[in-house]
Amino acid sequence: MQSRYSLLQKKKRKWPYIVSGSILVVLIVGIVGWIWWNDWDIDKSMAPLGLSNNAEESVPAEEVEEKPVEEEPVVETPPEVEPEIDMSGAKGYVGNETLPEEPTYVEGVLIVSKKYPLPSTFAPGESKEARAAFEEMAAEATLSGYELVAFSTYRSFDYQTTLYGKYMSNDGQEAADRYSARPGYSEHQSGLAFDIGEQHFEQHFARESFGETEAGKWVAANAHKYGFIMRYPNGKEKITGYMYEPWHFRYVGKELAPKVYEAGTTLEEYLNL
Ligand code: DAL
Ligand code: ZN
Repeated sequence: MQSRYSLLQKKKRKWPYIVSGSILVVLIVGIVGWIWWNDWDIDKSMAPLGLSNNAEESVPAEEVEEKPVEEEPVVETPPEVEPEIDMSGAKGYVGNETLPEEPTYVEGVLIVSKKYPLPSTFAPGESKEARAAFEEMAAEATLSGYELVAFSTYRSFDYQTTLYGKYMSNDGQEAADRYSARPGYSEHQSGLAFDIGEQHFEQHFARESFGETEAGKWVAANAHKYGFIMRYPNGKEKITGYMYEPWHFRYVGKELAPKVYEAGTTLEEYLNL
């Protein structure tokens, strides 16, 4: 028969198990709750511990220099190699810079490039159809954990004049022509170009680094389903006249965009411009 003392001892020895079991339950509930709070995104959940794969993306937004909306910041890496643009004329521009009376349409598509400028009076504002398509894409992107924003869309002729002038005085015309359109030559004036980034990650706005983020990869792989094409892909400067811009998407419609995407070409190549 067991003594009262040994029974008491046995009872006492259960406490450590109860205490450590409770701590374990609280920990598990806490961890699962935290991951739920972060939309089941392991990277986001680990970010505060500095363990995220996207550690670069975890820089708090407050530490990022604020940029005015609509402003297309200067590309961070200055060109190392002299551009070799095959388009005729200086850096892809055709001639005397006279703007046309009418915009150019090829196969029903409004074309805006160094070869095909817009009239200075062309001022349609942001395209409602493109905005609706963007919102549809953004809603789909949230299901994968990305909050997309369009940080620059329609720009007036006058605004592009200011912007290009600023870039030219900062970097000189030759460099500016590689990343900024002269007034009348910007797709943004058409209301169909959307510069896309991820909310809270302004450090990648209008930067090549956007193409390396998970959100940037998602947009590159999915934008065509919503009618957008990446207008200035990597390695196509000779054809488009502009450096790689993984953030600049052009709305061409849900019929054409998948075809251009599947062909793996630029709009210039696809339409033989
Ligand atoms: N960054 C593009 C080329 C524009 O200025 O329209
Ligand atoms: Zn743009």
